Amino acid sequence: MNSISEIDWKVKSKAVDSLLENRNKLILVPLDSGLEAEVTKVCLEESCFVLKVWNRSSKPNVEQQFKLLKTLYDKGLPVSQPYGWGLDKDANSVLLMSFNGVAVKKINQSKLTSLAKILSSFHEFPLNCFEDTFLKKNDFINYFYPEIEEHEDIHLLIKRLVDISHMKQDKLIHGDYNLGNILEIERRYTIIDWTNGQLGDPRYDIAWSIVLIRIYVSERYGDVYRSAFLSEYTKEEIELFEAKACLRWILLNRITDLPKGKETIARVKSILKNNVHLNEKLI
Ligand SMILES: Nc1ncnc2c1ncn2[C@@H]1O[C@H](COP(=O)(O)OP(=O)(O)O)[C@@H](O)[C@H]1O
Ligand SMILES: [Mg+2]
Repeated sequence: MNSISEIDWKVKSKAVDSLLENRNKLILVPLDSGLEAEVTKVCLEESCFVLKVWNRSSKPNVEQQFKLLKTLYDKGLPVSQPYGWGLDKDANSVLLMSFNGVAVKKINQSKLTSLAKILSSFHEFPLNCFEDTFLKKNDFINYFYPEIEEHEDIHLLIKRLVDISHMKQDKLIHGDYNLGNILEIERRYTIIDWTNGQLGDPRYDIAWSIVLIRIYVSERYGDVYRSAFLSEYTKEEIELFEAKACLRWILLNRITDLPKGKETIARVKSILKNNVHLNEKLI
C-alpha cells in the first residue's frame, strides 16, 4: 500500500493531518479489493479510516466522487464521510474516507425493505444541493454495456428495450447498488463505492439491485425487495428495466469472470424464462 505521506493531497481535512503526524503509529489492514482499486483500513488508535487507491486500469474522477460524497454526507445521507483525496506517486487517484463496517451478509425481509428505502432516498435527493453541474449524464448503452458491439444478440435487444422505455436520466443514481457496496455496523447501513454515481434513471438502479438479489440471494428475497418499489413504479416498468439489468449481467458474464455459485446460472435462466422481454437463448 502507498504510504500516506507519499500522497499528494489535493483536499485534506484534519484527519489526514493527524494520520500524517502519526504515520509511525498507523495500523494498516488490506480489505477485500475488487477489480478496480486497492482498499486498506488505516487505524490510528481507536479511529479507523479507509484508503481506496485506483491503481488498476480504471481512472475515475475522484475529485468528483469526493464532492458527491461530501454533499450527500453533509445532508445526512448514509454514505462514508470523505476526509481527503489526492494522487499517489504513480499518479493513481486516492480517496480517504470513514470506516463503516462490513458488507451486509445476512438478509431478512425488514433489512431488504430498509435497503430499498435507502436507495429511494438517493433517487429523491435534490440535485440543486450539488454546488455545480458536476454530476454527469452518460450514454446508457455505452456506459453500462462494455464491448456490446461484439455481442449482436444482446445489442439488438438492448437497443429495442431502450427505445420502448422512455428513459429519463434526471436523478442521482448509484449505478451499482449491490450487497457488496452496502456496509453495516449495528444496523446502521452505509452505501459505498460511488464510482458509477451519475445522473440516471432510478428504475435502472432499482432493477440492477433486484436482479442481483435474485441471482445472488434468492428469487424469494428478490421478490420481497422488488415489492418495496411497487408503490412508486408499475410492475411492467420494473420488468422492462429488469430485462435491461439482466442483459447487463449476461454481457458481463460473457466478457469477465463474474462470481458464480452452484445455483447462479439456474437463477439467471429463471429470470430469462419469466421476463416477457427475455429468452433462454441469451445465455
Ligand atoms: N468506507 C469503508 N468502510 C469499510 N470498508 C470499506 C469501505 N470502503 C470499502 N470497503 C471495503 O472494501 C471493499 C471494496 O470497496 P469498494 O469501494 O466497493 O471497491 P470496488 O470498486 O473494488 O468494489 C468493500 O466491499 C468493503 O469490504
Ligand atoms: Mg464495490
